Amino acid sequence: MVDWEARFQARNTPWEREGLNPAFVDWFNGGYFEDGLVYVPGCGRSPELGALAARGPAIGVDLAPSAIAHQEAELAAIPDPHPASVAILHDVLTWTPGPDLGAQVDAVYEQTCLCALPPELREDYEARIAEILRPGGPLLILFMQRASDGGPPFHCGLDEMRTLFSTDRWDWTDDPPRRSDHSPGIFELGYRLIRR
Ligand SMILES: C[S@@+](CC[C@H](N)C(=O)[O-])C[C@H]1O[C@@H](n2cnc3c(N)ncnc32)[C@H](O)[C@@H]1O
Repeated sequence: MVDWEARFQARNTPWEREGLNPAFVDWFNGGYFEDGLVYVPGCGRSPELGALAARGPAIGVDLAPSAIAHQEAELAAIPDPHPASVAILHDVLTWTPGPDLGAQVDAVYEQTCLCALPPELREDYEARIAEILRPGGPLLILFMQRASDGGPPFHCGLDEMRTLFSTDRWDWTDDPPRRSDHSPGIFELGYRLIRR
């Protein structure tokens, strides 16, 4: 198991990029994040949570205390933040929005959390996201692509992803995948799925 807090403490965070993920910028500018509550699982220190919170309510969840402390400081710097915007120290496999939040969120932005989890936990993770996201809500998700075995990041092969996010629960839109390059040989493919 990866000690994520130790990775942050050691500044060993090669997944962090300068600025916003290009796929996120496309989706954001395209209006795919509506007015409602957006959930960012495994938010780490990524700036997308702050960008979403500057727009409206957004919740980030992560189990690394220093990532949450960073996000709390970022959220505190937003003028007139929505009261529902918070960063929460929790395991994404067990977190659910409480009844005060309507027990569900309106959209999910998934960036390098799925690929960080041990692959044997993927079904649990998908089930939790499906439970949390309201019917009709978008899941904007980046599937990590890498040629080599091992991880994290673990490769998220598209055939496997179509089985994991099956049409029983998800509509895969016809949007062309959005590619975000990472390091050499590693890139993400962004897809927009809709909770049925
Ligand atoms: C590869 S990092 C990505 C962070 C962030 N999404 C980004 O793009 O910069 C994976 C993140 O997932 C978090 N994480 C891993 N497993 C988790 C779990 N079970 N529950 C909550 N967070 C988790 C780690 O602490 C870490 O911040």
